[in-house]
Amino acid sequence: MPGSHRCLWSSIVEYVGEVDARMIFLNKTGFNGLYRVHSKGQFNVPLGRYKNPLICDKDNLKAVSKALLQVELHQESFDKVLDRAKRGDFVYFDPPYVPLSETANFVGYDQNGFGVSDQERLAEVFSRLAHRGVKVMLSNSDTPWVQERYKAFRQVKVMAKRLVNTRAYRRGPISEILVLGYYSH
Ligand SMILES: C[S@@+](CC[C@H](N)C(=O)[O-])C[C@H]1O[C@@H](n2cnc3c(N)ncnc32)[C@H](O)[C@@H]1O
Repeated sequence: MPGSHRCLWSSIVEYVGEVDARMIFLNKTGFNGLYRVHSKGQFNVPLGRYKNPLICDKDNLKAVSKALLQVELHQESFDKVLDRAKRGDFVYFDPPYVPLSETANFVGYDQNGFGVSDQERLAEVFSRLAHRGVKVMLSNSDTPWVQERYKAFRQVKVMAKRLVNTRAYRRGPISEILVLGYYSH
């Protein structure tokens, strides 16, 4: 990366504050931009393999900041959307994916994991929203379980680039499913 695109730690801190600067640093230097915490809730991602990461991208930070000015962010469980979403709203769920195999059960984004019962609850929430007239969309892995669970809705297969995988050969494009709750078959 050209030197002019890089900036020093102190200028990042000045720009976004200490806490955000730490987060950006970890995100830009950790393994493939992954965010994951261990059972005690602390950041737990191995070092990434970057030669010269662009840590402070001022133009992008400014653009993101501008885009977020009109946005309200809530950190809460997915089922809370049932309290707010009304007919005509658009809702997109990007949950931890159903594992592709018995051994590929990586669902540990947070200390609580995201197991089969959570996937079942999410499918139920999806269905209730769709029947309410909310335009609801969900992405998940292309597995028989997902196909079966959402069989009442239109499913579109997409090839998605996966950057976050511990094994490089699994980081190429893989088939995923987009479920569209606002179209019949
Ligand atoms: C596939 S990632 C989504 C990544 C996100 N779309 C992005 O581009 O960065 C799945 C996300 O679901 C979140 N998650 C896990 N359990 C959840 C729950 N019960 N309610 C809402 N979100 C949850 C995880 O924290 C994680 O960020």
